[in-house]
Amino acid sequence: MRFAIDWQDARLRATRDLAADIRLFEIEPANPAKPPAPGSHISVTVTIDGQTDARCYSLIGVAEDGAYRIAVKRLKESRGGSAYMWSLAPGARLRISEPQNLFELTLGRPDYLLIAGGIGVTPIHGMAMTLAARGAKLRMLYACRQRAELAFADELRERLGDRLETYVDEEGQRMDLAAAIDGLDPDGELYLCGPIGLMEAARRQWRQSGRPMERLRFESFGNSGRFAPEAFTVRIPRLGKTITVPDNRSMLDALEAAGVELLSDCRRGECGLCAVDILAVEGEVDHRDVFFSDGQKAENHRLCACVSRVAGGGVTIDTARRD
Ligand code: FES
Repeated sequence: MRFAIDWQDARLRATRDLAADIRLFEIEPANPAKPPAPGSHISVTVTIDGQTDARCYSLIGVAEDGAYRIAVKRLKESRGGSAYMWSLAPGARLRISEPQNLFELTLGRPDYLLIAGGIGVTPIHGMAMTLAARGAKLRMLYACRQRAELAFADELRERLGDRLETYVDEEGQRMDLAAAIDGLDPDGELYLCGPIGLMEAARRQWRQSGRPMERLRFESFGNSGRFAPEAFTVRIPRLGKTITVPDNRSMLDALEAAGVELLSDCRRGECGLCAVDILAVEGEVDHRDVFFSDGQKAENHRLCACVSRVAGGGVTIDTARRD
């Protein structure tokens, strides 16, 4: 059960490769494009194994020429969405939503720290550009595995100058999260988007700093875990069902396709609405959400079905609890 989305027709106008495995898509909506606020995204329907699904992508720029722009990273371990997007050629017909914003930028703060990891740069890019244009005080830290993966780095450097710091993992460069958070004005805000390891480390550091959690805003993308995605089995004794989750679909998608009703909203491990009770595990739960704390993940009592997976077997769950 998902909150309603108003879908519209759209056409892929053009594509352009931005960096290794990162491609920009220019999409013309049937309705006039609305200038998206920083942090906005659109949903795009994709076809995976013959079934229609949806993926959310952050919007780049302000659609001044009538086209929405998204950047999609081609993932070797994709659940299928990125592979589908990369298969599209200009002229392709799409279904997209209007822009939505679950990652709003609050203007008027005395200081901003922006942290992006990998393709998490997409929402942070718009925030950096907006804040820089308004003359706001900001610092942006941007990490990726390889230098060739640094999308938008030239454009960001041109606008931000030395307020942009890039970190390349394979060159041994690491962010000093503690120092970055220490250096932020006490009334400043942190905006964060990246893989789960970076998100958890930054959130942990923020909590340790004693700063108010509401000054930390984040958006995740739920595709990075401790294990490569593999098929696993979900048993639901109360419903008498056993369902196989393929390696390229989420557990939530597989359960819904099997007729199991679950609440969901963000579908990227943030809101916790899709959480189910774990009754037994064969193998290891790969928690990929940012909703549960480290302690809750270690307890292994619940998991977010939209992003989390199981490696090495399967899981027995109950879907009844709602709190
Ligand atoms: S739907 Fe939001 S965490 Fe799963």
